[in-house]
Parts: sequence; structure tokens; C-alpha cells
Amino acid sequence: MRPPNTVTPFAERSEFDQAVDHVRTAGAAYHDGTGLVLADGEYDQLVARIAATEQLHPDWNGRGVTTDIAPGAAAGAVRHTTPMLSLDKITTKAEVAQFVESLNGSTVVVEAKFDGMACHLDYAEGRLVRAVTRGDGTAGEDITHQVTREPGIAGLPRTLPHPWTGSVRGEIYMTAVDFEQANTARTASGKPAFANPRGAVAGSIRKVGRRYTVPMSFAAYAITGDELQPIDSHLERMGYARLLGITTATMLTMGALPAGTLIHGTRIEDVQLAIDAVGELRPQLGYPVDGAVIKVDSRRVRTGMGSHSSAPRWAKAFKFPPDTAFSTLHDIEVSVGRTGRAGFTAIIEPVPVNGTTIRRASLHNVAWIEQQGLGVGSRVAVMRAGDVIPRITAVVGERPDGVAPWQPPMTCPQCDQPWDRGGQLWRCVTPACSLVSLLTYAASRDVWDIDGLGEEIAAALVAAELVGDLADLFVLTAQQIAVVPYFRAARTSEAGAVRRIGMATAQKLVAGIDAAKEKPLARHITALGIRMTGRRMGRTLASHFRTLEALRAATVDDLAGVDGIGPEKARTIFEGLAEQSKVIGCLVAAGITTTAENLDAPADASRPLAGKTVVVTGAVPGMNRTEAQEAAERLGATVSGSVSAKTDILIVGTGTSARSKLAKAEQLNVTTMAAETFVGMSRDFSGGTPS
Ligand code: IVH
Repeated sequence: MRPPNTVTPFAERSEFDQAVDHVRTAGAAYHDGTGLVLADGEYDQLVARIAATEQLHPDWNGRGVTTDIAPGAAAGAVRHTTPMLSLDKITTKAEVAQFVESLNGSTVVVEAKFDGMACHLDYAEGRLVRAVTRGDGTAGEDITHQVTREPGIAGLPRTLPHPWTGSVRGEIYMTAVDFEQANTARTASGKPAFANPRGAVAGSIRKVGRRYTVPMSFAAYAITGDELQPIDSHLERMGYARLLGITTATMLTMGALPAGTLIHGTRIEDVQLAIDAVGELRPQLGYPVDGAVIKVDSRRVRTGMGSHSSAPRWAKAFKFPPDTAFSTLHDIEVSVGRTGRAGFTAIIEPVPVNGTTIRRASLHNVAWIEQQGLGVGSRVAVMRAGDVIPRITAVVGERPDGVAPWQPPMTCPQCDQPWDRGGQLWRCVTPACSLVSLLTYAASRDVWDIDGLGEEIAAALVAAELVGDLADLFVLTAQQIAVVPYFRAARTSEAGAVRRIGMATAQKLVAGIDAAKEKPLARHITALGIRMTGRRMGRTLASHFRTLEALRAATVDDLAGVDGIGPEKARTIFEGLAEQSKVIGCLVAAGITTTAENLDAPADASRPLAGKTVVVTGAVPGMNRTEAQEAAERLGATVSGSVSAKTDILIVGTGTSARSKLAKAEQLNVTTMAAETFVGMSRDFSGGTPS
């Protein structure tokens, strides 16, 4: 692979040698999962610089780091009959187009590129007889025992429904949920956490005597065997694997993408669309995908194209930006969440991860921080997977000299009372401390939308003993609020100054609180801050029970009967509602909306969007996203977050954010509706009152 033009070769031999050492060490750590030395992006960049330098100085010895399939990986004892190659990487649309064009009309298939550990499997007479890691590509380690012992690996059957003999290659990977579980088990046994799911697979699979089980999954991307000889198409071969009960990358990719999205084709546009779709869905997949693989479908064409030393010529890996980066810990902030739980936020040296600069990242619990020996100055791995809050997944390397383990405060920073340290999670039992978080959450834009009621004002109202629970907000007067002193933490010349809230702000707050009463029932349910209920659950509960009265009367069984609520959630919600009974009573007395909208409206079937599944994209005039979704529900629609074959209508607002959903809707022939039309419809339906 030719390095991109922007890569700077090393000028000095010593720098070059050092970089080669670094890549080899990082490669070894990467392969055995024992630790992390370089983030993916940094690793690729270094290898590219080494390659560029080798071209300028052919006599400088790069010790194979640019040509070896797996530099630094330990070669195992089992030789592969055919080498397990790597894939050449591409990162631009132009390179995608160039590759597809070079194939002269041969069909290509696009698959998610699973970020785990490559594995070769041999089946004999329908039984899995051997599993081998890739190792250095030529020889790998026998991991049959680890793969076949309970609970096995999802998607990788130990026995087949039919006495088939042949080989399968694919990736063993860990889902996001399994990764969390694996890291919890590992840190509980006193070991350093894995930085990402790939490291966790590599580190867990080779442990023969591990006492705890780590759930893992498998996705096949190649299959060979006598019966498959006549089958030329990769897609058909993968279909065969599926019949054997083996999960394939093809099938997972097809299942994840909106129905109708082609994962094979000959046109550059179709290939690009499929790659974009994988990239766009990556955050929601729940499994680690670091790119999309573009591969020729026909085996005959593949054979004609052949391979170079480390990778086939018939496939390319389109790499997405890495979702893990490394940074340095500057501080740890301690706060109390809306359920009283102590929360720990890492303040880190700003670092770009997948397009966003990350400065703060959540940390696990205090036990984790202590087990990992985290200290101010430690190097940490930051993972930003999807839309979730970035998280510190691991402490990297040894603690640098002079860095002491961080000492958590023994008391709550808000009330100075000792924590309840009964469990793994520390809690502050002072209701006022969680109340500040709860008030801030309830006042946020998508819930009550009370402008100006941020953390500082909430803390001031609680400290002044004006607010002891959520409902107290609704009896406040501007006079009471105006004289409350508060502490401004803002970075202004007044920072640290104690001020009073003042009449102007107080009046604005009272107006905001008053307006909050009129918000839809769903938002009042959300505002209660009951565990396991967020915005979506608020809407589900409101539309199922229709009145606050009915919701309060609901039994655990009634709740468990709601779509999307399991027995555990039902119990939690039931208990939460019971605990909040007094507050709910006061909210009702204050005059909040207690019925879901349009109870008196025409029967469901005559609502304009009755029975339709609707997706909203782009900016809708006069409404934020939540309001637009609520309006669609009032019109009878079921709202979904992504366009699929099940979508009936895509409501298209303005802005570039609408583009990709629009493209998908066009591809799937989904009807679109201009946002203005939707706003008009909503206004007409609610009798002229804008929602
Ligand atoms: S095709 C010659 N398809 O990515 C190898 N590989 O970075 C043909 N990988 O070595 C591989 N998902 O371990 C292929 N859908 C997929 C894949 C995939 C993950 C891995 C594989 C490969 C590595 C290259």
C-alpha cells in the first residue's frame, strides 16, 4: 500500500528505528491483549511514516512492520494451510471509486468489518475439531478448548445440523454489553481493564485457566469445503454457512442495515451507500465495527486477481475513524446523580475521538478507580462508542513516576456527609444532594424546558430550603426566588462571587415553571426521574395508560404488560411511582397535565397519521426534535428513530442532517412530507393552537 502524500518520512535513522521498535511492541500488546501502547490511529500513522521512510531509504531496515500481516504477534504452533492475510486499508471515497472501477463490472459485496480476533475453524463430520488464532498469519495458536468449552461462542456452533467437513474463517468479537461484563469480571479479579472489545477478546480467549466465563460472538467471512467447490458467489457461500448454523458477517450486515439497502452491486454509488449505511449505523450496532470490507463476490475473479505478500487484491478495508484514543487524566470530578449515586467524571487532556474533541469522560465506580490505580497524570484510554457519553475504559501502562493513586473524598462534596459505602456504588443519602441533579434533569429542554434552571440555581434553591422536592417548584413565588443567594461558577470576572438570583431571573423562572405544567403528560412522567425511565419510556407509559390516575393505579403486572417493559423494569417503575406518590399528588394539585393529549379527539383511526410509522429528520420550524415527535404522536403516528422498510413517512426538515435519511428514504421508496406540511397538519388537528 502506498502511504498517503501527507505522511512525513523520518529524517533521522534513530527516530526511524525507535518508531519500528514502538510499532513492534504495540503490535505484540495488540495481539495478546495484555495492554495498549498505541491507539489505532496513531499506530496506522506510524506504520505509514515507516513505509514512506523505507521508500526513501531502502537500506533502512523496517523489520517487516509494513509488510508483516501482524507485526509483533506471536507465531503459534499450528501452521495455516493457506496464510491468514490482512486487508489493505483505504479511507477516502476516491479510493473506493478507484477500487470498484478497477474491477470492470465485477460484483462487490460490502460487509461490516468486525473488530475482534481472526480465527480459523476446522469442522469434520459436523463437529468442530480445531480452532486456531491468526497468529502471525502463517501459524497461530490452538484455541479449540477455549472456543468449545461452556458457554461456547455465539454464532460458532460446536456441532452442525449436518455432517459437514470444511473450514471457516471469521472474527471472534465482543458485543458492547459483553465487553462491559468482561471488564467488570476482570477488574473484580484485580486485573487491569481492557481498553476496548478487541483487546478484551485477545486477552480473554488465550486464557486457558480463567475461572470466570466471558461471553463472545463470532462472524464468519469465508468458508471452504468440498461441497462448496461449485459455488462461485461469496454471498451464496455465506448462505451455505448460515444453513449450517454459523453466523456470518454478511448476514449480520444485512440484518443491521435498513431493509432494502443493497450490500452487493457493481455501481460505485451503491457501494458507497452501503459503506455509509454501515458507518451511520455503527453507533447503534452494539458490536465493534471499525470499518467496512469491500470484496469481490466471485471466487473465480478473486483467484484471477490474487494476493500480494500481506493482503488479497480482491478486497479493501474502508476504515472508519477509531473510537478509542489515549489521553492524560487531569482531574476527577465527583457529583451526585438524581438517584443519589456518586458519579465520577474524568477531566482529561482534550483529545479528538471520532470527530469530536473529548475533555470529559465518565468513569466506572470508585472500586474500579482504586483497582486500576488511577491517578492524576495517568494515561487513560477513552472510548466514544456511538452517541453515548465518552467513557474511560482503561488505564494504560504503568503509573508514571510521581503519580499517586487518586484518593476519593470520603464525604459528599455537596453536603459534606459521609457516603453510604455499603455497596460497590457509593451513595449520598442526603435527599437534597440528589435533588439538585433531579431538578436539573427535570428542567432540561426535553422535559419541562424551564429556561434558566441549571445546576447552580437548583443548588441555591435547595440550599435556601425553598425546594425540598420536585413539586415545591410549583409553589415558588418570584419574590421568594429573587433574594436567594447563589454561587456563580461561571468563568467570568464574577467567578466565585456570591450573588442573589434577582427579580428578572426569578420572574423568568416562575414563568418557565408555570409553562411546564402545560407540557404533555409524558414529560411529567419523565420528570419524576424514576430509574429506568427516560423520555421514550415517559411517552410509552403516557400513551399506554393515558391518564396519570391510571398509571398510578397500575400493578407490576399491568406495567409488565406494556410493550418494551420486562418484569424487572416493571418492578422498578412500580416502586419508583410508589416512592413518588406524595410528589405526584402535589404535582396534580399544582395543575400539571394529567391526561395524554387528544383523549377527546376523534377516535384513533381518524387521526391524520393513524397507523403510520413516521421518522422525523432535519429541523422542523418552531419545534425541537422532541416536540416534533410528540406532535407526530398526537397525530396518531408511531415514531421511530431510523428509516427502514417499515417506515411509512419521512418528515423532512431543513439542514444537512436530513440528507442521509432522505437518501435512504428515496432508496426504499418511502413517502416524504415537508416539515412545513407537517407543522400545518399539526396546527389544524390541534384546532389552531400550535403544539
Ligand atoms: S475478509 C484476507 N471480512 O479484518 C482476509 N475480514 O484488518 C479476508 N475482518 O484479517 C478477510 N471483518 O480478520 C473480511 N467482514 C470481514 C471482516 C474481516 C473483520 C478482519 C479479518 C482481516 C482483518 C483485516
